[in-house]
Amino acid sequence: MSAKHIVIGITGGIAAYKSLTLIRLFKSNGYEVKVAATQHALEFVTPLTIETLSQNKLYADMFAASVTRDVEHISLADWADCMVVAPATANIIGKFAHGIADDALSTLLLATRKPIFIAPAMNDKMFEEPTVQHNIDLLRQKGCHIIDPQSGFLACGSTGTGRMEEPEKIFTIVHQTLSVPQRLAGKKVMITAGPTYEPIDPVRFIGNHSSGLMGFCLAEAAAEEGAEVTLVTGPTHLTCSHPGIRRVDVMTAGEMFEQCMAIAEQQDIMIMAAAVADFTPAQAAPEKIKKEHDSLDLHLVKTRDILATIGKQKRNDQLLIGFALETEHEVENATKKLHTKNADVIVLNSLRDKGAGFGTSTNKVLMLTRDGQTHESELKDKHAIAKDILDVACSIIK
Ligand code: CTP
Repeated sequence: MSAKHIVIGITGGIAAYKSLTLIRLFKSNGYEVKVAATQHALEFVTPLTIETLSQNKLYADMFAASVTRDVEHISLADWADCMVVAPATANIIGKFAHGIADDALSTLLLATRKPIFIAPAMNDKMFEEPTVQHNIDLLRQKGCHIIDPQSGFLACGSTGTGRMEEPEKIFTIVHQTLSVPQRLAGKKVMITAGPTYEPIDPVRFIGNHSSGLMGFCLAEAAAEEGAEVTLVTGPTHLTCSHPGIRRVDVMTAGEMFEQCMAIAEQQDIMIMAAAVADFTPAQAAPEKIKKEHDSLDLHLVKTRDILATIGKQKRNDQLLIGFALETEHEVENATKKLHTKNADVIVLNSLRDKGAGFGTSTNKVLMLTRDGQTHESELKDKHAIAKDILDVACSIIK
């Protein structure tokens, strides 16, 4: 495999001296490194040091005559597998967040479509300042990986949060992210997540305890492996930041059904991790129901089953994964769901297992496939369970 290409962006903060260590770390681990620096960064570190360590020409002047006649910020953006801005000052964060491109590095950032890591470094008061925090949020929403600064002694003499993360840690974060296999590159993956809320009246609903975490972990893991993910989610406070995820928010089982059916045909893999309500009030009361009577009868009707409907119409080249949450006769019930809903895999959670199912950050699952095989995952973090589920998915689509 050819060496991975990294562009390190250096901006004008005292932590710029640590970027030299970062260059060395990437070089000594087999990466090709090119550096883009702002003019202010060059007050702290010299072009000679940068070029000697990276063994490449420094990119700092947008209008320097180029030997190759390339438009350098475009060719460098194409060359890079990833960009790391360390240290990132409040200035570059603000410029990138708002699309300002007035020098070599800020122009390059806007031209790059590869993963971007930002390691902020600044005085603690500046870091806390709401505009700076808002700009960092905007970068997160764009899909940048923010490597949070640490708390400690700052160059200005005070102590607080704003010190750039250590180069060794930055290297490890970037290296680990880039080492994820891209088994789902070019694949479209639809994932459902969370509960659904079925309205009883304008203020009440029938819901369930699903947090959505399993579906969100699946979406992140699939996007990290290169998939184009659509995450159709019921109400949840969770957020997702990966640029490969398109999030569609829904409230009810009916809305989730509509959104899923509209795109099901174009998908390669569909994973139904949502805890969809099986019944919904036949009619939501238009006004708040008053407690005038001693009892209240709600007439509920069955919702449409998304998994079963897709199971009926799916093509052979589409992979359909469902979940089963059971409290008794677990394997028997899950096997029944595998066949009646025509899924390729059923991921079984048992509420009897401690730490599994709803409202926990961990899960323990048994995956049943159509060829009669089972794959067991022990109790672990839902991110790790998501990877196990994708392993099974990838082994089938291969
Ligand atoms: N599911 C769905 N649409 C529904 C109900 C369920 O897509 N209206 C999906 C869930 O996302 C899950 C699978 O079907 O992947 C099984 O859900 P589960 O609640 O365990 O089973 P049900 O089919 O609802 O059957 P039961 O409640 O009788 O166990």
